[in-house]
Amino acid sequence: MARTDPPTDDATTSTELAPDALSLLTRDHRLVEELFTELERSTPQQLDPLARRICKLLRVHTQIEEELFYPAAGRALPNESFIERAEHEHAEARETIARVESLAAAHPDFNGAIALLAQQISEHVQEEEGQLFPQLRKGSLNLIALGLALAERRDTLLDVLGLHDDDEEGIANQHNTHPSPPAQQDERRS
Ligand SMILES: [Fe+2]
Ligand SMILES: [Fe+2]
Repeated sequence: MARTDPPTDDATTSTELAPDALSLLTRDHRLVEELFTELERSTPQQLDPLARRICKLLRVHTQIEEELFYPAAGRALPNESFIERAEHEHAEARETIARVESLAAAHPDFNGAIALLAQQISEHVQEEEGQLFPQLRKGSLNLIALGLALAERRDTLLDVLGLHDDDEEGIANQHNTHPSPPAQQDERRS
Protein backbone atom coordinates (compact mmCIF):
# COMPACT_ATOMS: atom_id res chain seq x y z
CA MET A 1 0.00 0.00 0.00
CA ALA A 2 1.08 3.56 -0.54
CA ARG A 3 0.43 4.55 3.06
CA THR A 4 3.41 6.28 4.62
CA ASP A 5 2.22 6.64 8.20
CA PRO A 6 3.90 4.45 10.79
CA PRO A 7 1.69 1.76 12.29
CA THR A 8 0.05 2.70 15.55
CA ASP A 9 1.08 0.76 18.63
CA ASP A 10 -2.29 0.89 20.26
CA ALA A 11 -4.53 -0.27 17.44
CA THR A 12 -7.15 -2.48 19.02
CA THR A 13 -10.18 -4.31 17.80
CA SER A 14 -13.34 -2.34 17.26
CA THR A 15 -15.02 -4.15 20.15
CA GLU A 16 -12.23 -3.21 22.57
CA LEU A 17 -12.53 0.43 21.55
CA ALA A 18 -16.23 0.29 22.37
CA PRO A 19 -17.09 3.08 19.94
CA ASP A 20 -20.58 4.45 19.97
CA ALA A 21 -22.62 3.60 16.91
CA LEU A 22 -22.08 6.92 15.17
CA SER A 23 -18.32 6.85 15.75
CA LEU A 24 -18.07 3.32 14.40
CA LEU A 25 -20.04 4.13 11.24
CA THR A 26 -18.17 7.42 10.73
CA ARG A 27 -14.88 5.56 11.04
CA ASP A 28 -16.04 3.15 8.35
CA HIS A 29 -16.93 6.12 6.12
CA ARG A 30 -13.44 7.61 6.50
CA LEU A 31 -11.87 4.23 5.84
CA VAL A 32 -13.74 3.75 2.58
CA GLU A 33 -12.86 7.29 1.49
CA GLU A 34 -9.23 6.52 2.25
CA LEU A 35 -9.36 3.36 0.14
CA PHE A 36 -11.01 5.18 -2.78
CA THR A 37 -8.17 7.72 -2.64
CA GLU A 38 -5.64 4.92 -2.46
CA LEU A 39 -7.21 3.41 -5.57
CA GLU A 40 -6.34 6.55 -7.53
CA ARG A 41 -2.67 6.09 -6.66
CA SER A 42 -2.55 2.35 -7.18
CA THR A 43 -0.56 0.51 -9.78
CA PRO A 44 -2.57 -1.53 -12.30
CA GLN A 45 -1.67 -4.69 -10.38
CA GLN A 46 -3.12 -3.27 -7.16
CA LEU A 47 -6.44 -2.18 -8.62
CA ASP A 48 -8.32 -5.48 -8.60
CA PRO A 49 -7.62 -6.51 -4.98
CA LEU A 50 -8.20 -2.98 -3.70
CA ALA A 51 -11.49 -2.64 -5.55
CA ARG A 52 -12.61 -6.03 -4.17
CA ARG A 53 -11.71 -4.88 -0.69
CA ILE A 54 -13.70 -1.67 -1.04
CA CYS A 55 -16.69 -3.64 -2.27
CA LYS A 56 -16.51 -6.09 0.62
CA LEU A 57 -16.22 -3.33 3.18
CA LEU A 58 -19.17 -1.53 1.66
CA ARG A 59 -21.21 -4.73 1.70
CA VAL A 60 -20.45 -5.20 5.39
CA HIS A 61 -21.15 -1.54 6.21
CA THR A 62 -24.48 -1.41 4.39
CA GLN A 63 -25.52 -4.74 5.89
CA ILE A 64 -24.89 -3.75 9.51
CA GLU A 65 -26.68 -0.46 8.93
CA GLU A 66 -29.71 -2.21 7.47
CA GLU A 67 -29.80 -5.03 10.02
CA LEU A 68 -29.16 -3.02 13.17
CA PHE A 69 -28.63 0.71 12.75
CA TYR A 70 -31.51 1.84 10.54
CA PRO A 71 -34.15 -0.14 12.51
CA ALA A 72 -32.91 1.43 15.77
CA ALA A 73 -32.76 4.87 14.15
CA GLY A 74 -36.27 4.38 12.77
CA ARG A 75 -37.60 3.60 16.26
CA ALA A 76 -35.80 6.62 17.72
CA LEU A 77 -36.97 8.97 14.97
CA PRO A 78 -40.42 7.62 13.99
CA ASN A 79 -41.26 10.59 11.76
CA GLU A 80 -37.99 10.56 9.93
CA SER A 81 -38.29 9.59 6.25
CA PHE A 82 -34.55 9.34 5.91
CA ILE A 83 -34.38 5.59 6.52
CA GLU A 84 -36.47 4.67 3.48
CA ARG A 85 -34.36 6.91 1.27
CA ALA A 86 -31.15 5.55 2.75
CA GLU A 87 -32.16 1.95 2.05
CA HIS A 88 -33.02 2.92 -1.52
CA GLU A 89 -29.57 4.49 -1.90
CA HIS A 90 -28.00 1.33 -0.49
CA ALA A 91 -29.84 -0.72 -3.10
CA GLU A 92 -28.54 1.53 -5.86
CA ALA A 93 -25.01 1.35 -4.48
CA ARG A 94 -25.22 -2.44 -4.27
CA GLU A 95 -26.00 -2.58 -7.98
CA THR A 96 -22.84 -0.59 -8.65
CA ILE A 97 -20.85 -2.76 -6.22
CA ALA A 98 -21.98 -5.85 -8.15
CA ARG A 99 -20.95 -4.13 -11.38
CA VAL A 100 -17.48 -3.31 -10.02
CA GLU A 101 -17.10 -6.86 -8.71
CA SER A 102 -17.94 -8.22 -12.16
CA LEU A 103 -15.27 -6.15 -13.93
CA ALA A 104 -11.56 -6.72 -14.14
CA ALA A 105 -9.55 -3.54 -13.66
CA ALA A 106 -8.42 -3.73 -17.28
CA HIS A 107 -12.01 -3.57 -18.52
CA PRO A 108 -12.85 -0.23 -20.18
CA ASP A 109 -15.89 0.22 -17.93
CA PHE A 110 -13.99 -0.32 -14.69
CA ASN A 111 -12.99 3.31 -14.03
CA GLY A 112 -16.50 4.54 -14.74
CA ALA A 113 -18.05 2.01 -12.39
CA ILE A 114 -15.59 2.94 -9.64
CA ALA A 115 -16.27 6.66 -10.16
CA LEU A 116 -20.03 6.08 -9.96
CA LEU A 117 -19.66 4.03 -6.78
CA ALA A 118 -17.44 6.67 -5.16
CA GLN A 119 -19.99 9.36 -6.00
CA GLN A 120 -22.96 7.35 -4.74
CA ILE A 121 -21.18 6.57 -1.48
CA SER A 122 -19.97 10.14 -1.02
CA GLU A 123 -23.46 11.59 -1.41
CA HIS A 124 -24.99 8.97 0.86
CA VAL A 125 -22.35 9.50 3.55
CA GLN A 126 -22.90 13.27 3.46
CA GLU A 127 -26.60 12.71 4.09
CA GLU A 128 -26.00 10.29 6.94
CA GLU A 129 -23.43 12.43 8.68
CA GLY A 130 -25.13 15.74 7.89
CA GLN A 131 -28.75 14.85 8.61
CA LEU A 132 -29.30 11.55 10.37
CA PHE A 133 -26.38 11.37 12.80
CA PRO A 134 -26.93 14.85 14.33
CA GLN A 135 -30.57 14.01 15.04
CA LEU A 136 -29.63 10.74 16.70
CA ARG A 137 -26.95 12.43 18.79
CA LYS A 138 -29.61 14.65 20.31
CA GLY A 139 -32.04 11.77 20.95
CA SER A 140 -32.35 9.09 23.58
CA LEU A 141 -30.99 6.17 21.57
CA ASN A 142 -28.36 4.15 23.48
CA LEU A 143 -25.54 4.69 21.02
CA ILE A 144 -22.99 2.75 23.08
CA ALA A 145 -25.09 -0.43 23.20
CA LEU A 146 -25.89 -0.08 19.51
CA GLY A 147 -22.20 0.49 18.77
CA LEU A 148 -21.26 -2.74 20.51
CA ALA A 149 -23.86 -4.66 18.53
CA LEU A 150 -22.65 -3.08 15.28
CA ALA A 151 -19.01 -3.83 16.11
CA GLU A 152 -19.77 -7.47 16.88
CA ARG A 153 -21.79 -7.97 13.70
CA ARG A 154 -19.18 -6.11 11.64
CA ASP A 155 -16.39 -8.35 12.96
CA THR A 156 -18.41 -11.46 12.16
CA LEU A 157 -19.16 -10.35 8.61
CA LEU A 158 -15.55 -9.31 7.98
CA ASP A 159 -14.47 -12.78 9.11
CA VAL A 160 -17.01 -14.42 6.81
CA LEU A 161 -15.68 -12.41 3.86
CA GLY A 162 -12.08 -13.18 4.80
CA LEU A 163 -11.24 -9.52 5.31
CA HIS A 164 -8.58 -8.97 7.90
CA ASP A 165 -9.50 -5.89 9.84
CA ASP A 166 -6.09 -4.84 11.17
CA ASP A 167 -5.19 -2.48 8.35
CA GLU A 168 -8.63 -0.95 8.32
CA GLU A 169 -8.56 -0.33 12.07
CA GLY A 170 -5.09 1.13 11.82
CA ILE A 171 -6.11 3.65 9.19
CA ALA A 172 -9.32 4.50 10.95
CA ASN A 173 -7.68 4.94 14.34
CA GLN A 174 -5.24 7.43 12.89
CA HIS A 175 -8.19 9.53 11.76
CA ASN A 176 -10.48 9.22 14.71
CA THR A 177 -8.62 8.56 17.93
CA HIS A 178 -5.31 10.24 17.13
CA PRO A 179 -6.04 13.28 15.00
CA SER A 180 -2.91 14.41 13.23
CA PRO A 181 -1.73 18.01 13.39
CA PRO A 182 -2.23 19.85 10.09
CA ALA A 183 1.45 19.69 9.14
CA GLN A 184 1.46 15.92 9.58
CA GLN A 185 -1.75 15.52 7.58
CA ASP A 186 -0.13 17.38 4.70
CA GLU A 187 2.61 14.79 4.65
CA ARG A 188 0.29 11.81 4.62
CA ARG A 189 0.68 11.24 0.92
CA SER A 190 3.51 11.78 -1.42
FE1 LIG B 1 -23.00 4.64 6.50
FE1 LIG C 1 -25.81 3.96 4.80
